Amino acid sequence: MKKITVLVSGGGTNLGALIKACQDGEIKNGKISLVISSNPNAYALKRAENANIKSVVIDRKLSTSSLEFDQKLLIKLKEENPDLIVLAGFMCILGKNIIKHFENKIINVHPSLIPAFCGKGFYGLNVHKAALERGVKLTGATVHFVNEEADGGPIILQKSVNVNDNDTPETLQKRVMRQAEWNILPKAVSLICSGKTKIINNKVHIGA
Ligand code: GAR
Repeated sequence: MKKITVLVSGGGTNLGALIKACQDGEIKNGKISLVISSNPNAYALKRAENANIKSVVIDRKLSTSSLEFDQKLLIKLKEENPDLIVLAGFMCILGKNIIKHFENKIINVHPSLIPAFCGKGFYGLNVHKAALERGVKLTGATVHFVNEEADGGPIILQKSVNVNDNDTPETLQKRVMRQAEWNILPKAVSLICSGKTKIINNKVHIGA
């Protein structure tokens, strides 16, 4: 059974989808053993508590630099030593040390079809605002491995979602979550935990 740590900062609906997938048996070979939140007020913490999952807060605001925050996070992650780290609405960019230490063991869910609307500054509602401003007719979500380039790691799964004429960033965010994120994130975790993904030349191959 693979040990999974989930990193969160906010509402935690993606964490909720992962918890449900573990309970329903969609994720058979993995177990969430720890939730780490960068925000003490994240509703995601309540979701962890309700599911009897251990959680800790490493408050980003209590660190004076991202380096200091990364050091605290790395200590906790080394102590836990998970097989897989899932960034599920984690609103901090991970430092090089963490990425190096857990090479190919960190995945992220991003609310667009990468390489559109991604990289520095594209997170949460900003992504959907940018998609609406550009007038795209299709958007979606991506689950990818995390490397040193923001949102630039090998892509595991993507799912497209239609944009409606009357969408606001909020309505679009909800549809992308419901139709794409909550679907492909548990799927990707399940594939990785059952050893079905391989990275070759920076591309993910999914096997039987
Ligand atoms: C999700 O849409 C997630 O894809 C996005 O923030 C939201 C968090 O929702 N993440 C990013 O933008 C990271 N770059 P949640 O807390 O309800 O899962």
